[in-house]
Amino acid sequence: MVRPGGPFKTPPSKRVPASEPGADAPELRGGAREPGSPESRGLEPSARSRVPAFEVMRITDEIARRRFAGHDVVSLCAGEPGARPAPGTLRPAGYTGPLGTAPLREAIAGHYREWYGVEVDPRSVAVTTGSSGAFQLVFLAAFDAGDRVALASPGYPAYRNILTALGVQVIEIPTGIESRYQPTPELLDAAVAEHGPLAGLVIASPANPTGTMLGRAELTALVDWCRRHGTRIVSDEIYHGITFPEVGDPDPRGATVRRWDPRAVVINSFSKYWGMTGWRLGWALLPEELIAPFEALASNFALSPPAPAQELALTAFTPDSYAERDAVVAGFARARALILEAEPELDWGASAPSDGAFYFYAELGAQLERYGDSSGYARALLEGADVAVVPGNDFDPVNGGRAVRLSYAAGEAAVSEALDRILRFQRG
Ligand SMILES: Cc1ncc(COP(=O)(O)O)c(C=O)c1O
Repeated sequence: MVRPGGPFKTPPSKRVPASEPGADAPELRGGAREPGSPESRGLEPSARSRVPAFEVMRITDEIARRRFAGHDVVSLCAGEPGARPAPGTLRPAGYTGPLGTAPLREAIAGHYREWYGVEVDPRSVAVTTGSSGAFQLVFLAAFDAGDRVALASPGYPAYRNILTALGVQVIEIPTGIESRYQPTPELLDAAVAEHGPLAGLVIASPANPTGTMLGRAELTALVDWCRRHGTRIVSDEIYHGITFPEVGDPDPRGATVRRWDPRAVVINSFSKYWGMTGWRLGWALLPEELIAPFEALASNFALSPPAPAQELALTAFTPDSYAERDAVVAGFARARALILEAEPELDWGASAPSDGAFYFYAELGAQLERYGDSSGYARALLEGADVAVVPGNDFDPVNGGRAVRLSYAAGEAAVSEALDRILRFQRG
């Protein structure tokens, strides 16, 4: 049974301790700053998330719970036309609660039991409009304008762009093959030394554009560093399940940060493993102190996640559905193998280990001499061979001009054809 979906009150402004009970006391950011100064907010919610929840959406959620429990509720609450929507072929679909329907939040919690053996309180699950919707609301709830948030470069450009639009200072951590294109405690130390204390760290495993993953040791080292520094982790786990594990891997679907850090925010989506990009549905697992602020923001910004998509997504967690999606992942594995086999012949430069997702990110090596940079290469390849690849600039404004990303999401046949054409193009 799902407990009520949150207190729906303006979040308290009181400080929430950054450490778990028994953990070391967190260092004040920068060591010398006083609590309450802009740089020592610790893990408390942002000041800007102290907005009242939209009362209509709170009541909408309560109505759904009462109806689910068998009550015959007459609602004069929401501004929702009750008649069939136009065009007439559409089924009626009203608002849901701001954090999603109770059955879907429970089903997502069940997914964590199924895949990771981790217990998640359905109250802490917030269903969102894609993971993109989750990022906006999480960044708003967790960070204030002027806070510093670190992320790996190369990385998914929307992290940087959403944070920047929200006035958060983005600290790009330059990464390379030495750290498998992932941040490390040493790189975070260097970032703090150069820029000052970090309010947040965004991680992604498997990552876009590199596909690289954080193993248990690497992930727990980051969790430990963030706990000691009062830095909030936001973990993008959207590519979990699109993984190519070796036998005996303790985290064959990917390691969820939730296992080690209940104060981290986990973000995920139905877009990738389930292939439901256009249904615009994702979720966040929220630590206790962010539930009310997130809910207040969600009820004002989005009112509710899309209802028909939520209904459909309930079928995503059946054994048949997992089996079907795993078969799709097996297809990605075959497409990936084609690229890895062709790599010597492509004769590009260093590449990131494509542990997961469906990306292969590589420097162009000798091709750069001919085309100048990866944008030039990508343009010439499209014009000369009708093969589209993404130049790295968007993922890494500093060094991305040397690299390209290939997505093998298109599958074996498309990848095979594209590789033939690339090789012909490069020879010609
Ligand atoms: C790493 C990563 N995170 C998040 C997203 C956003 O996905 P969505 O909003 O469809 O859940 C994408 C989309 O490509 C992505 O690559």
